[in-house]
Amino acid sequence: MLNQFFTLKVNDQLCSAMISGALILACLLFSKISLAEPVSFKGQVLPVLMDRCSVCHMREDSHGYLVIDEEYAYIALVNVPSFTLPKMKRVEPGDPQQSYFWLKITGEHLDAGGQGWAMPYMTKLNKKEKKLIYDWIVQGAKDN
Ligand code: HEC
Repeated sequence: MLNQFFTLKVNDQLCSAMISGALILACLLFSKISLAEPVSFKGQVLPVLMDRCSVCHMREDSHGYLVIDEEYAYIALVNVPSFTLPKMKRVEPGDPQQSYFWLKITGEHLDAGGQGWAMPYMTKLNKKEKKLIYDWIVQGAKDN
């Protein structure tokens, strides 16, 4: 009888430990997924690019042969080989570290075999602007 009581007790504890473990795991997974809000290219990313990049990347004077304007930014970036490092695309959907455009923004482009300066030239994007661009690429660089 006593023996049975103890086994029950132990099972009980084991069970509650398992339940709380599963709950913690579920919470962790959930918070990871919900951290990144869906990013809109037209509504959020493009305005940053227009504000910070287009001055040097206009059609007439497109440095790095990269045009960043409202009409061409998306088609010039996504799945297009970079001019300076053609083995790497400017934006590889889902993979910022394989996107030359992202490496130019973080300044890691030289390590990857690229050239020139970190972008935007002489200044920096703030954390929020960078996060938008990073999340947009991770979320598949959609034309949304
Ligand atoms: C003050 C001018 C200036 C501004 C502002 C600027 N760029 Fe550039 N960009 C250049 C020049 C010059 C080059 C060519 C030399 C080089 O690759 O660094 C270039 C090249 C690039 C390239 C390489 C293109 C390729 O395919 O090889 C990328 C990517 C780029 N810029 C992204 C950006 C982004 C993103 C911004 C805004 C956040 C930006 N640039 C803002 C002047 C600028």
